[in-house]
Amino acid sequence: MTEYTANPDRYADGMMNYRQCGNSGIKLPELTLGFWWNFGAVNDYSESLAKVTYAFDHGITCFDLANNYGPPFGSAEETFGKIYSENLRAHRHEMIITTKAGYNMWQGPYGSGSSRKMLITSLDESLRRMRLDYVDIFYSHRYDGFTPIEETMQALVDIVHSGKALYVGLSNYPADKLIAAVAYLRSRDVNPIIYQGKYNMLVRDAEEKHFDIMSDLGIGFTAFSPLAQGILSGKYNDGIPSDSRAAALNPLVKDMLTTDTLKRVRLLKSIADRRNQTLARMALSWILAKKVITSVIIGPRTVEQLADSLLAMKETEFSAEELIEINRILL
Ligand SMILES: NC(=O)c1ccc[n+]([C@@H]2O[C@H](COP(=O)([O-])OP(=O)(O)OC[C@H]3O[C@@H](n4cnc5c(N)ncnc54)[C@H](OP(=O)(O)O)[C@@H]3O)[C@@H](O)[C@H]2O)c1
Repeated sequence: MTEYTANPDRYADGMMNYRQCGNSGIKLPELTLGFWWNFGAVNDYSESLAKVTYAFDHGITCFDLANNYGPPFGSAEETFGKIYSENLRAHRHEMIITTKAGYNMWQGPYGSGSSRKMLITSLDESLRRMRLDYVDIFYSHRYDGFTPIEETMQALVDIVHSGKALYVGLSNYPADKLIAAVAYLRSRDVNPIIYQGKYNMLVRDAEEKHFDIMSDLGIGFTAFSPLAQGILSGKYNDGIPSDSRAAALNPLVKDMLTTDTLKRVRLLKSIADRRNQTLARMALSWILAKKVITSVIIGPRTVEQLADSLLAMKETEFSAEELIEINRILL
């Protein structure tokens, strides 16, 4: 096995841009590497290793995980732990490593949801799988609709005090619950620095529900599923390719593949062609063009997809005509 040596130019000008995360003292790279779907035990380890080192070599310092990423659940954290301990341990202080708890993880009544029991025990297991002493950001993965906000938030406060997370974040919270959660944490002197929500050209609810309150709350926004799980690459325009996420039986993708969506994606592709961008890159640039965004969490399956996505950072200029045309398609 050849030893990994990080690219000495990874922080050179033009390699990566970093944006301040809300009113916190940390900056996040414009692109974060996400581990939801392409880093599990079912995936090729050497490809996962190549993506993580390629990302780090290109200035990506933020790695987004959750307890149940895989498949199977937990295996993306195990993949990350192996990659980290064998290659990146010397760079721990350069990395923002996140994990989450809240969705289905293990059997029984405590294996899902946002209880104190779930968050605290799940984080311990995540740290073991990732071979870490602490994470940089620990997220409550969702508002579960039944655990009192105070219970979930006090668990986050105690996690920070235990030293197992430096910062906390929230994901998949309705706006009113997010406001209440932030108020609770701040009343206990814990600053939630980030909100993680789904945002892409096809799913824009966050514009109305969350964007306005981000600057008032002083927290950053990271966008997940920026390509609508690959639909915004245009790869489904002529059917379902065998090497796609939809072919891998991810039901969430197939449900979104309606005639209307594909019509819009084809129209968007013609704009991307004129801009000499892949559609995937245009979809990422369109998100990055918004000031409210701190980081876009990408989920590449291959190193080629990762390399392509990185180019989007330099293509965030849109003419007024292009924006009008895009808005008309997305309405
Ligand atoms: N907080 C939450 O609840 C939550 C939920 C979901 C995701 N996330 C985070 O967000 C991350 C990203 O989500 P996601 O994986 O759904 O992202 P995504 O970018 O919407 O979809 C990734 C898929 O898009 C395709 N793709 C990626 N880059 C491409 C490129 N340059 N050209 C062509 N196709 C490309 C690949 O599809 P194929 O495999 O079909 O080629 C890849 O599997 C996750 O890993 C996770 O960290 C968080």
